[in-house]
Amino acid sequence: MRLWGRGRALRQRMLCLWLLLLVLALVMLGVTDLLYRDQNQRRVPSPSRSFHHRVHSPVDLEVIVDSRDSAAAGGLDLPPLTSLQEDQLLIVPSFAQRSRATPAAPQKKGTYRVLLPGANKGTAAPTFLTHGDKGKSPRVKPGSLQKDVEVSSVQKYGFNEVASERISLRRGLPEARNPACMGEQYSESLPSASVVICFHNEAWSTLLRTVHSVLDTAPKQHLREVLLLDDLSQHGHLKSVLSEYVAHLDGVRLIRSTKRLGIGGCRSLGAARAAGEVLVFMDSHCECLKGWLEPLLERVAQDRTRVVSPVMDVIDWQTLRYNATQWPVRGVFDWRLDFHWEPYPRPKEKDSNSAIQPVRSPALGGGVLAIDRHFFQSVGAYDPGMLLLGAEQIELSIRVWSCGGSMEVVPCSRVAHLNHHHLPYLLPDQEVLQRNKIRIADTWMDAYRKIYYSRDTLAHFIRQSESPNVTEQESLKKSLGCRNFHWFLTTVYPELYIPQDRPALSGELYNVGTSSCADYPGGKGQPGGAMNIAPCSGTGNQHCELNSMGEVRWGPAGALCFDSGGEKVALSPCPTHQPSDSRFQWKYIKLSGQLVHQQSQLCLEAMKEGGLLHSDGGQERGVNTPTTEKGLFLRPCTHHPRQQWHFEQLVAPKGA
Ligand SMILES: *[C@@H]1O[C@H](CO)[C@@H](O)[C@H](O)[C@H]1NC(C)=O
Ligand SMILES: *[C@@H]1O[C@H](CO)[C@@H](O)[C@H](O)[C@H]1NC(C)=O
Repeated sequence: MRLWGRGRALRQRMLCLWLLLLVLALVMLGVTDLLYRDQNQRRVPSPSRSFHHRVHSPVDLEVIVDSRDSAAAGGLDLPPLTSLQEDQLLIVPSFAQRSRATPAAPQKKGTYRVLLPGANKGTAAPTFLTHGDKGKSPRVKPGSLQKDVEVSSVQKYGFNEVASERISLRRGLPEARNPACMGEQYSESLPSASVVICFHNEAWSTLLRTVHSVLDTAPKQHLREVLLLDDLSQHGHLKSVLSEYVAHLDGVRLIRSTKRLGIGGCRSLGAARAAGEVLVFMDSHCECLKGWLEPLLERVAQDRTRVVSPVMDVIDWQTLRYNATQWPVRGVFDWRLDFHWEPYPRPKEKDSNSAIQPVRSPALGGGVLAIDRHFFQSVGAYDPGMLLLGAEQIELSIRVWSCGGSMEVVPCSRVAHLNHHHLPYLLPDQEVLQRNKIRIADTWMDAYRKIYYSRDTLAHFIRQSESPNVTEQESLKKSLGCRNFHWFLTTVYPELYIPQDRPALSGELYNVGTSSCADYPGGKGQPGGAMNIAPCSGTGNQHCELNSMGEVRWGPAGALCFDSGGEKVALSPCPTHQPSDSRFQWKYIKLSGQLVHQQSQLCLEAMKEGGLLHSDGGQERGVNTPTTEKGLFLRPCTHHPRQQWHFEQLVAPKGA
């Protein structure tokens, strides 16, 4: 009895001790978290404003792990966990399993199972998955649960991260290059490359797959280093576990920024720390195909002012499947300053070699970009006034071209890029993108900026209440002797249609009878879709214009035209030869508000869903009365309000 009592007391005391330990651990966790947050707050007074005042000096940096340094110091040994600071209390499940002796913190739901070097074999030496290894099959969960997990991973990351984790970190992608590429010879003395990869809350699988694919495909003699830059990620797996993992990768350095820099600032920081002759900026969710680096380096070596991109293949966000992009393509942007890759068919030439000739490109995407390091610095790096992300690749493109450089897509180089379903994190304010675009408009577009502002009214209103400070960009432009936007439009990108935006003949196309605006539900993309009506958006995305050729031009690039697809009005690619077919010609009668199709002499009429054909008001909805679908139609001209239109300018012509 007493023995039993003593045993119970002992057990109770032990329990108390454990509880105390647990509480202590929790308190420690809270305190360090607070301290860390406090530290951050002291350095960055207001989180939403922090990126307004970016300083690139190395003083702001914390280089936490440098694999070359640690390899030199400690050989292959794992650095002790205690050497890691604020994040040492983060427990990663696989780690906890390995060391059962310590009372493991409760496993959080949805935490990462991280593949640690040597975790499977119980040794400290790094052992990585090899090609074709299908990875962690035990994670596969049955049926609907699996579906739920996938859905939440899409919400968290913007792509199916569960599917991604099932794929090897070192999968090989199929050959997609033109066979003529295999015969290409590259110089032995190509310049060295620093691959700069910035990340912010990237998933483990995609980040490490990017790194491994670079290490596996880039020839050692050309790859100077891989620089991983952590742009203030919060996710636990990107802290000590990543530091440890990277410490065992030869030639990979991890640099952590203590403030949020955004993509441009982060890449500029990487450039400042890079030692290679050529910088290769790469998104943190890419996979390189065999032989991708050499053709890029060769083109840059031939002309140091040349900025080049591989053909960007696509990794599907749902299935993680690889999809090769049809060559030739080039990068362009439209009058809303949005970037696109577009097919770029060139006239067929006899020379079979022309199939693998690089294509000059008015702009390049931000996914992968190779640029000479000195040229990058002399042309002004990324615009330090640009916030977080958005449109920085367009700004760099205009600047490179206008200030003496050039851009091209190199077909024998291919890198696949994971296209997200949506951005994995929220921007601190919705206007970040517009503010970046305003900088482009004010710095580079001269009088053409009006065309942008009338297609992006949010930007217009922001611009009215605050001017961006582009003094530095202006003086850079002057000192580099950059050309104007007219030169860019006529020399680099002559295919971009220049809208006329005449008063009273451009803006939202408002229909009196339905109190709605002409709208294109197909979005900015494919031609051939039927026009429709929708509530007037006021954002500028329903902007169109009747130009002096009689065309009604639609879309942010102005490349689609109102066309009579039978009775219904649809959009087709505008004719490129002038004068255009009468099929594409319209006449606006100001007095009556009618828009008359010249070929058929019929009038544009808007129909709401369930509206009645040629019946006024629609009171007599008899059984046999035909109802129509919604849309824009060509009908015999009447004075019905459904045939009355106004072009409503959202932005005063003198604005901006
Ligand atoms: C690959 O991309 C093309 C267009 O670029 C698309 O039509 C096709 O459906 C895609 N294939 C797969 C398997 O996703
Ligand atoms: C704009 O920025 C420059 C340098 O970055 C600075 O000298 C100038 O005072 C700023 N102008 C305004 C109006 O803030």
